[in-house]
Amino acid sequence: MSIVVRTATEEDLPAIRSHLGQTDPRLVDKHFRLQREGLMLFAVALDHDAGDDLVGTALLDLNSEMAPELRNMFVAPKARRRGAGKALSQWVEQRAREAGHTAVYLAVDPNNEKAVPLYISLEYHPTGEHLFAEEPEVEQVPDPSRASSYYAIYKKSLTAR
Ligand SMILES: CC(C)(COP(=O)(O)OP(=O)(O)OC[C@H]1O[C@@H](n2cnc3c(N)ncnc32)[C@H](O)[C@@H]1OP(=O)(O)O)[C@@H](O)C(=O)NCCC(=O)NCCS
Repeated sequence: MSIVVRTATEEDLPAIRSHLGQTDPRLVDKHFRLQREGLMLFAVALDHDAGDDLVGTALLDLNSEMAPELRNMFVAPKARRRGAGKALSQWVEQRAREAGHTAVYLAVDPNNEKAVPLYISLEYHPTGEHLFAEEPEVEQVPDPSRASSYYAIYKKSLTAR
């Protein structure tokens, strides 16, 4: 799989809606509108070897309490463990760097056994702070009985070597 990451365009919206499946489709419109307003970047990952099939999405929120924040990353189950999550994260980090930021933040459910190892492998570190996940926009853990009531905040320095 050869992955290309870029900013979402209007033409991507139908593919994004079907990629995100159970997610409320109004969220896609909301995030796309925030991108137009300059408050968010909406990233899509395409599989160049499969006719630019959309395999993943992620957001860089430039306006949240934790901004710049990597949010709502989702890779299609059939495309997982082939580098799309890593490529999306690194694209988001590069955009944050270009905008003059020195770190990227994210909030992850400690029981998210797929995402936590990804972020650790990319040198995100827990800050020790937590955020109560009262009404998350998107569920991070498919089994509701395993979802935590709080998310751990992680930070990646964009300047440390
Ligand atoms: C988390 C998620 C985005 C990872 O996407 P992905 O494309 O599979 O990730 P990558 O292939 O880039 O993985 C990179 C590294 O992360 C780690 N990793 C990813 N998935 C993992 C898993 N299921 N178990 C253990 N480590 C994992 C590994 O270190 C992996 O490197 P390796 O495959 O060479 O061992 C994907 O599983 C997903 O969409 N999950 C559901 C939504 C979600 O939880 N989003 C995150 C919200 S915070």
